[in-house]
Amino acid sequence: MRLTRRLLGDVSKTLKVLDFFSQYNPSPLSIKQFIDFGQNACERKSFLFLRKELPVRLANIMKEISLLPENLQHMPSVEMVQSWYVQSFADLVTFVKVEGDNEDDLNRFCETLDRVKDRHRSVVETMAQGVMEMRDSHGFDNTTENSIQYFLDRLYMSRIGIRMLINQHSLLFGKNIVSPSKHIGSIDPSCNVVGVLKDAYDNARFLCDQYYMDSPDLEINMNNGSTLPQVIEMCYVPSHLYHILFELFKNSMRAVMECHVDAENHPSIKATVCLGTEDVTIKISDAGGGIPRSRTDLLFQYLYSTAPRPDSSDVNVSAPLAGYGYGLPLSRLYARYFQGDLQLYSSEGYGSDAMVYLKALSSEANELLPVFNKTTTKFYKQGITMSDWTSSQSVYSNGNARGFSAQAVRSYRTGPCRQHCLTAGAALV
Ligand SMILES: Nc1ncnc2c1ncn2[C@@H]1O[C@H](COP(=O)(O)OP(=O)(O)OP(=O)(O)O)[C@@H](O)[C@H]1O
Ligand SMILES: [Mg+2]
Repeated sequence: MRLTRRLLGDVSKTLKVLDFFSQYNPSPLSIKQFIDFGQNACERKSFLFLRKELPVRLANIMKEISLLPENLQHMPSVEMVQSWYVQSFADLVTFVKVEGDNEDDLNRFCETLDRVKDRHRSVVETMAQGVMEMRDSHGFDNTTENSIQYFLDRLYMSRIGIRMLINQHSLLFGKNIVSPSKHIGSIDPSCNVVGVLKDAYDNARFLCDQYYMDSPDLEINMNNGSTLPQVIEMCYVPSHLYHILFELFKNSMRAVMECHVDAENHPSIKATVCLGTEDVTIKISDAGGGIPRSRTDLLFQYLYSTAPRPDSSDVNVSAPLAGYGYGLPLSRLYARYFQGDLQLYSSEGYGSDAMVYLKALSSEANELLPVFNKTTTKFYKQGITMSDWTSSQSVYSNGNARGFSAQAVRSYRTGPCRQHCLTAGAALV
């Protein structure tokens, strides 16, 4: 909060503004609402909504940054992220009393949105850097680690939502409107799921070929509950879907290639796409050896990776196949953003099934957004309480109560993540 005060200049006044906006809950929109609005797009209406909604969303997450452990808040990278949020909040609240009834105001708003989006481009990498700085300088205990995991999920989810709003406004009303397309902003009303899946596979395969000189084939099965020919279409944000599938294919390819090192033919990856009345389900199955059940809790932890650290000194190498430990947790956020989910089931010794669930109906695909309130504050202040179950480990062993916890993450993780290209897809959306 000290940094927030410094950056906000006219301290007490602007802090009051921050407190004021943080009292409001973000207003989640459904994909259907995004579409309906986009089809009858009125720039001023969008402006009037965003001039309040964006400061509300920013203020809600900024209040949480100020509840992070003090040590973490003072890491240089975290201070930098905080300063971006403060600056963007300050930029956006200047529009609160603007009526937006002339072109100048509306153009100025579009320019401000572009600047905000640009400023926050590397939030994911920079925050990850901050967490590593903290880990290296102070270490983590279980409570800190839980707070950080909780916070990162919320920070990144808030960021996805803010970027979605900005993208919609910019794509519909900004200077760089693309020639007529069936997309409404970043949403494709008839997104071809298998088309996106093939793109994601091709690009992951390209990386896999570079790294292993070979790659597993893909088999696709579709089931849309009706007669052939099958095309499964849904109303969705293709860049979000691409992000999720690209990360899953990279993981499966790596698992298959590492598990069958000497094999001439690698077992194919199987993708099954199903359309039901409620859900679109995508299953990515690999025979890459799977993961022991004791490690499944770690998979969605930020920075958990069993891959060797990507070589940051070699600038000629393209994006690595793995190594940052952000693929699964970020992909799950993209899936959950519109009320979907991502789960990973493994049969150790054989392979894994990653299940992606998305809402089939655009009216049910509502944004999931973090809300700052008393429960949030309590979480950061109290952390986790003591376990009220016996440990899975014998009292004669040296492990701690949570089995694979902070220590396990540290020992399985083989290196810190690199600043750039942390998530190939994150910059896309
Ligand atoms: N299909 C899979 N089969 C076996 N292990 C997997 C599979 N998917 C994920 N994992 C394990 O989970 C870990 C975390 O995956 P995650 O995608 O989050 O990070 P990563 O692949 O290591 O790095 P990146 O951030 O570059 O994706 C991996 O390092 C790997 O050990
Ligand atoms: Mg990965």
